[in-house]
Amino acid sequence: MHELLYPFFLFQRSLAAWLFGALAVSAAACAASPTPSATAQAADVGTPQWRSVLHYTPQRNWMNDPNGLVYYKGLYHLFYQYNPNGNFWGDMSWGHATSRDLMHWHEQPVAMRAEETEEIFSGSIVVDAHNTSGLGAANSPPLVALYTSMYKAGSGHEAGTQAQSLAYSTDDGKTWRQYSRNPVLTLDPESKNFRDPKVSWYAQGGYWLMTTVVADAHVVKIYRSNNLIDWTFLSDFSLPGVPHREALWEMPDLFPLLLDGDSRQQKWVMILNVNPWSIAGGSGAMYFVGNFDGKTFTPEHVPTAGADPADYQWLDHGADYYAAGTITNAPGGDAITLGWMSNWDYAQQVPTTPWKGAMALPRLLALKTVGGVPRLISTPIEQYARLLREDKTTRVNTFSVSSATQQLAVSTRGIVQNIALTISPHSARRAGIIVRGSENGEVGTRIFYDTTSRTLTLDRSKSGETGFSNAFSKQHIVNLPLENGKLPLTIVVDRNSVEVFADHGRRVITDLIFPASTDNRISVFADDGEATFSDIAVTNLL
Ligand code: FRU
Repeated sequence: MHELLYPFFLFQRSLAAWLFGALAVSAAACAASPTPSATAQAADVGTPQWRSVLHYTPQRNWMNDPNGLVYYKGLYHLFYQYNPNGNFWGDMSWGHATSRDLMHWHEQPVAMRAEETEEIFSGSIVVDAHNTSGLGAANSPPLVALYTSMYKAGSGHEAGTQAQSLAYSTDDGKTWRQYSRNPVLTLDPESKNFRDPKVSWYAQGGYWLMTTVVADAHVVKIYRSNNLIDWTFLSDFSLPGVPHREALWEMPDLFPLLLDGDSRQQKWVMILNVNPWSIAGGSGAMYFVGNFDGKTFTPEHVPTAGADPADYQWLDHGADYYAAGTITNAPGGDAITLGWMSNWDYAQQVPTTPWKGAMALPRLLALKTVGGVPRLISTPIEQYARLLREDKTTRVNTFSVSSATQQLAVSTRGIVQNIALTISPHSARRAGIIVRGSENGEVGTRIFYDTTSRTLTLDRSKSGETGFSNAFSKQHIVNLPLENGKLPLTIVVDRNSVEVFADHGRRVITDLIFPASTDNRISVFADDGEATFSDIAVTNLL
């Protein structure tokens, strides 16, 4: 959320609440006694053509950051920034959804609601297995949430002040009780930008760790605790020279990963979400790899002050991947991330109703040495791969295209699909694929390799509706040298998004698109030369 926009949002929120009230009154006047099914239908009108199938969306209303991602007793819990009262940012509360496989979600009742004097901003949840907080019982551990209280007038805090609070659940995440002595952590003096606590168990030291930010001061603050209630400051993480003074730092996450799967090479990864100043413009998720000694995080490589976003490492090079963080307690200790599939530059203008906001595909992170440096590799989780049924898959034999565009067979058409292929651009200046293409070829999202600049581009300038915001950026480009002249791609296409996993997850581009439901064609093309397309497998997922 951009600090400067808060007052505007407050205005917008009250305007929208007023409008909503007025509409509700007139609807009630028109339909004397609506039947339940008529009410359900009314809720469905809007933009079903953009309702994601593979990605979580709330049934109605606004959603932003994933919060409190935790796996517990066979269920994944996704809590999220949610407005129960409207399809715009405001009245921030924690929505809730659960899933057995991270792919099929069930929306649950709102877990924590905004009140007159306090909104519930982002945070995280841990399983307090040994009841260190004393808020559960030894044989029935509590789930403990640390979240940001955003105080309003009448709260006893200056309006706008942010501090970290605690809530707990003793019924496996169904209901939540706020701790009686909240907040548990404030800054002195109080800050209006102290937020987004991410808590984890630090096994080596036997204590809880919390990373949190002072967003406008560009600092991650790290704390420790034995009971999740009393927190002691450990250290600050910041960057020399702060290359992006206008940006906010939000939603930090610090976790260990093995480099190249080698148990002797444990590294620590710090994810830092920044808004704006992302590689694709607006908000995005950067990361650093380094060491953590129980007190201080030391990155191995930090670009010099004044550097460009391109000098940093990004989880995703598209415009729509923000507030990304890992799931706590994931089976096998896997690092699985979930990100909000939108961008603060235009999130409020996105033309979906009666909801706004979707989560990107959950991704498994691995740390691999690439060109001598540790890099995060992101791939769709195994539970997604299991959806790719052979009987729903069309395979196409290898073929070449020379200075032309060629549509694929009718059997490859679809609007929710997994597309795997390898492009060998050979002599072509550009070679690529067009997804969600229209019959007349005028609409389509283009994903192509440029052999001169050695870059991969996602171009959504003709992907459907784009005019709802001037900030809806059109092209996202990333450097990507080819291995043996080949570019393997896995493309996840949904009603409202495209996620490109290039070169086995070395680069990812995630972008929202707003095509018509009839835009269901796939084409490939080569400009100014010849390219070969091989290993094509298109799996329809609808
Ligand atoms: C990130 C963010 C967080 C904040 C929340 C408010 O998108 O701005 O820093 O806690 O959203 O909804």
